[in-house]
Amino acid sequence: MADFQSQLLRGHLHSFEVLPKVFERARGPAPSAILPGMAEQPSIAIVGAGNLGSALAISLRDADFRIDAIITPARAASLARARGLASKIGSRVLAQVEGVQARILWICVPDSAIAQATASIASQFEGRGRVALHSSGVLSSDVLQPLRAKGASVAAVHPFMTFVRGSRPSLAGVPFAIEGDSRAVRLGRSIVHRLGGKPYAIAKKEKNAYHAWGTFASPLLTALLAATEQVAGLAGVSPREARQRVLPILLQTVRNYGEFGAPGGFSGPIERGDVATVQRHLEVLRRSPIPRQVYATLARSALEYLPAKNKTALKSLFDSANRSR
Ligand SMILES: NC(=O)c1ccc[n+]([C@@H]2O[C@H](COP(=O)([O-])OP(=O)(O)OC[C@H]3O[C@@H](n4cnc5c(N)ncnc54)[C@H](OP(=O)(O)O)[C@@H]3O)[C@@H](O)[C@H]2O)c1
Repeated sequence: MADFQSQLLRGHLHSFEVLPKVFERARGPAPSAILPGMAEQPSIAIVGAGNLGSALAISLRDADFRIDAIITPARAASLARARGLASKIGSRVLAQVEGVQARILWICVPDSAIAQATASIASQFEGRGRVALHSSGVLSSDVLQPLRAKGASVAAVHPFMTFVRGSRPSLAGVPFAIEGDSRAVRLGRSIVHRLGGKPYAIAKKEKNAYHAWGTFASPLLTALLAATEQVAGLAGVSPREARQRVLPILLQTVRNYGEFGAPGGFSGPIERGDVATVQRHLEVLRRSPIPRQVYATLARSALEYLPAKNKTALKSLFDSANRSR
């Protein structure tokens, strides 16, 4: 897997031809049973056919799990989305958990809906012998307490990956943070291995910081790219052109980060201590105040964590830009 990651970072970032082999290797031989007493291929019910639920259901099916049911709110748009997913994976759609035969229930609703969905499921649920999982990175497995009280073993299984509508990222090599009851954790680990992911234990008290880290790594990186498009606009470049032109430098930056770390992957006027250039940037960015704030804040952070020349002069520039908000 390390081999795969270095290939990925050296230049295969958008080229996935290496994946099938790696995936097979990571999956290894199919286990005869995930937990003692369970059928050959344990079936799973997915609650919520959103971004994660849809991608996960397909990955699980591809890894030979049977998806017993997709459980979704009885609203026309939700049912339509769930039906589209169910038809791809040979499953059925239910509006409630009653009638679900699966031994494993994987709750993929938004964090803010997990407690309410759990309470509703618990009222119709026989938990003994079953396992319930959720995938929030910030909430602990304790939010599933109503299902635990009904006899289920519960865990949180969080993939450190981004899932957006229409994408289905490979789970090969993806770290999954897991915590919860020992039976559910063992099961979660087995499933993650079978998906090609890398399970590891996380303490409940670390989850807030862990999830803030993940938010920096993907959603805020996307937010930075959105601000980047605004700056491209100042140079007369449309968002569409900006997206095309930015990809080579962006992908190389990510590769450099993977290969050399943040300090070794850092270049540009701050690293060179080019104060006059930075002054010009801050001047033109007056026309786009929010990207200017983002620039000044990230540049200030660069002075703390990355190599830079003329730090004192740059610091006073960025501090004054941060004060003039
Ligand atoms: N997306 C990611 O990148 C990502 C990564 C790691 C972990 N996660 C975790 O995955 C979970 C789901 O996130 P998401 O991004 O997939 O959210 P999402 O795209 O908003 O999807 C959530 C789905 O849950 C459905 N839902 C809401 N309440 C429900 C209920 N009571 N019963 C059944 N279904 C219900 C929604 O139905 P409607 O169709 O009616 O809205 C929607 O289809 C969250 O815990 C999140 O933290 C997400």
